[in-house]
Amino acid sequence: METNLSSSAPAEVETECLVVIVLDRTENDRSEKDRSETDRTKNASGEKAKPEVSIETSDNAIHEAARDVIATGEVTGKIFESTLLHNPSKLKAKRLLLVGGGKAKNFAAFELRKMAGTAVRTLKPKGIRSLTFVAPENGINAEVAVKAIVEGAFVGNFDPDTYKSDRKDQKIDSVTIIARGDQAGLQRTLDEARIIGESQNFTRELVNEPSNRMTPTLLAEHARKMAQEVGLKCEVYGADEIKELKMGAFWSVAQGSDEPPALIVLRYEPPGAPDKPVLGLVGKGVTFDTGGISIKPADGMEKMKYDMAGGATMIGVMRAIALLKPNLKVTAIVCATENMPSGKAQKPGDVQIAMSGKSIEIINTDAEGRLVLADGLYYARQLGCTHLVDAATLTGACVVALGYVNAGVFANDDPMYERFGKALEKAGEKMWRLPLDEEYKESIRSNIADIVNSGGRWGGAITAAMFLKEFAEDTPWIHLDIAGTAWMEDNKAWIAKGPSGIAVRSLVEFARDFGERF
Ligand code: BES
Ligand code: MN
Ligand code: ZN
Repeated sequence: METNLSSSAPAEVETECLVVIVLDRTENDRSEKDRSETDRTKNASGEKAKPEVSIETSDNAIHEAARDVIATGEVTGKIFESTLLHNPSKLKAKRLLLVGGGKAKNFAAFELRKMAGTAVRTLKPKGIRSLTFVAPENGINAEVAVKAIVEGAFVGNFDPDTYKSDRKDQKIDSVTIIARGDQAGLQRTLDEARIIGESQNFTRELVNEPSNRMTPTLLAEHARKMAQEVGLKCEVYGADEIKELKMGAFWSVAQGSDEPPALIVLRYEPPGAPDKPVLGLVGKGVTFDTGGISIKPADGMEKMKYDMAGGATMIGVMRAIALLKPNLKVTAIVCATENMPSGKAQKPGDVQIAMSGKSIEIINTDAEGRLVLADGLYYARQLGCTHLVDAATLTGACVVALGYVNAGVFANDDPMYERFGKALEKAGEKMWRLPLDEEYKESIRSNIADIVNSGGRWGGAITAAMFLKEFAEDTPWIHLDIAGTAWMEDNKAWIAKGPSGIAVRSLVEFARDFGERF
């Protein structure tokens, strides 16, 4: 998708569709109890009260063009409401789309990003291929607005229907943003946002592929190809090297599959970058999770193709980092394997020795993500990473705790978490911190080995994180459990059902911030 910046008057722009924001400015200061139903919906003369809305542009021609439809009262400004007008009077645009942004007092970049996605998803099935978005002039800083609109438009433009014979493959080809202010600065912001949006969609494409088309070997090939295109170092190690490195935890999962595993290492080492920090990004790349011998029920098992989302996240993040060029070293490690039952598969009760030397009693072969990450985290530290972040579709328990709205975040270091919190804000992603108290460690004690790989049912997201903490040790570390958020369960106005690309934007912002001041 092409992205352009413009400082023209909206009325003068020739475009298939001009998009403007409408906000709900109805005052709600009286409590519900104070007013009767009639009072709330009718005015003094007994007519239905018109919603109070504002169109977020100073362009009079747009206000003029929208006047009649606003006068009908059908535009409420409700979030994601869209109203499409044809041949709007006095505008050069062929159409005018009014997109609701919700209550004016709550309106921020977070909503704007989704509104851009909504505009794209409203227009593309209508055969419209280019649109022009009028950035709001009040309330949101122009740079923040341009960034949110571009990122949101990329999110909205993705559809997962790759293998449909009648694939519509409808995409918006071009988005222009009308924004006021320093055009050179805004152009830079736009270019950066575009890299981030494209990288998020790159991750989503990897996650969307079924496991027969995204084996560990193929995931590694995608990573290698991307690395070549953007100038990253890429090394891929197979079964022999994984065994040579004594990655007993990673191998214990891989041993059950006929499909060879891949240890993918991507390095970004810009000339002149300081020796420290080195950010390590570790991703769970389970290209299919059957559960192994502790096999999962058939119902819904097809979804376990997205169990490599953490790994795909890190590959997408590395793409963005290579193009945005922050001044710090970043190493990504993706542990890619299938988790299969077979005559070679590990069994409950088996004891495995991780690369760090810790012994692990396998209670449940379906708790495989933490096994591959244990060696991934330890290896990252061996490669010199001073700070670690991992991302993984790790536990169903995290979905029970936080649903599909927030990803789970865990951290063994408060300052690092604080900085990550700022990145979340900037990226407009929702995650919620969960605890790592020492008391939880009791749940992963083993009779025969150092730890077990399953802490049982209660606090399952936490005990999984406690397991990982054993391998991060005293290295500052953040763990993202994206089991509930890496896959959208339903279509939304602003994003398609399917892979979400969660955490890509936040991790890119986090790395950029880390490169700026450490
Ligand atoms: N990949 C799953 C977690 C998962 C569940 C991801 C739902 C996405 C949606 C993980 O490998 C797993 O199976 N975890 C087990 C752990 C248990 C056996 C301790 C779980 O959550 O049930
Ligand atoms: Mn599993
Ligand atoms: Zn899994």
